[in-house]
Amino acid sequence: MALIDKHAILEKNATLLLVGSLLVVTVGGIVEIAPLFYLENTIEKVEGMRPYSPLELTGRNIYIREGCYVCHSQMIRPFRDEVERYGHYSLAAESMYDHPFQWGSKRSGPDLARVGDRYSNEWHVQHLTEPRSVVPESIMPSYSFLSSVTIEPSQISTHLVANTRVGVPYTEAMIENAQADLLAQSDPNADTSALLERYPKAKVGDFDGNPGAVTEMDALVAYLQMLGTLVDFSTYDDTAGAR
Ligand code: HEC
Repeated sequence: MALIDKHAILEKNATLLLVGSLLVVTVGGIVEIAPLFYLENTIEKVEGMRPYSPLELTGRNIYIREGCYVCHSQMIRPFRDEVERYGHYSLAAESMYDHPFQWGSKRSGPDLARVGDRYSNEWHVQHLTEPRSVVPESIMPSYSFLSSVTIEPSQISTHLVANTRVGVPYTEAMIENAQADLLAQSDPNADTSALLERYPKAKVGDFDGNPGAVTEMDALVAYLQMLGTLVDFSTYDDTAGAR
């Protein structure tokens, strides 16, 4: 009886009710959110994942700028038809360095999460330049202008720094050598040992077939060619994380 009386006081006083409600919501919110700041294991670590190389990151920025995600997803769902078409379903860890992630919700074109290594560099350049020259029924727009826009390599380190702000573990050495790494990755004759030590499995080459300049086409193709290739699924244990 006494408790009901006290509750009536709360219900009849709008200010008190508001303060009480806020208190309850705050406590509930803290209980739900606070542990996330301390849990290291909210994302499963998977061998092979590394931050994007400077050239790949540049390509990724172009991918976002051009709105490729409007037609392409980057998330293979664990359904048989998707796995048979695109390969192993996407792991959460595979987008751990994506800010913002590119999962997408629209597939006018195929999923691109594992498009890396599926085609040659020449195919990508031809396809991006004039999609209908390789896939006659394609509705994809042409991005031929990417071949004539050169990249300003001196700016790339600032993109790495921006990524460190949101938790991507770029090291001092990676930031310091960003420009050199970008140039080395797009030059088949460069010494790439330092680049590959920092960014294992990075694809090196003159992606756009124009050795004279590092263009946006070089960067975008370098990015496409590494998508989904970092984790080695011949050794990845599907059940390791299961409890
Ligand atoms: C208007 C929708 C649309 C946009 C925007 C678009 N694409 Fe596509 N894309 C498609 C369609 C449809 C296909 C399938 C036909 C083809 O291969 O051209 C495709 C195919 C592809 C393929 C081949 C995939 C495979 O597995 O065969 C790649 C790679 C690709 N697109 C990359 C891109 C990139 C990079 C961009 C942004 C610069 C982009 N697309 C923008 C619609 C789009």
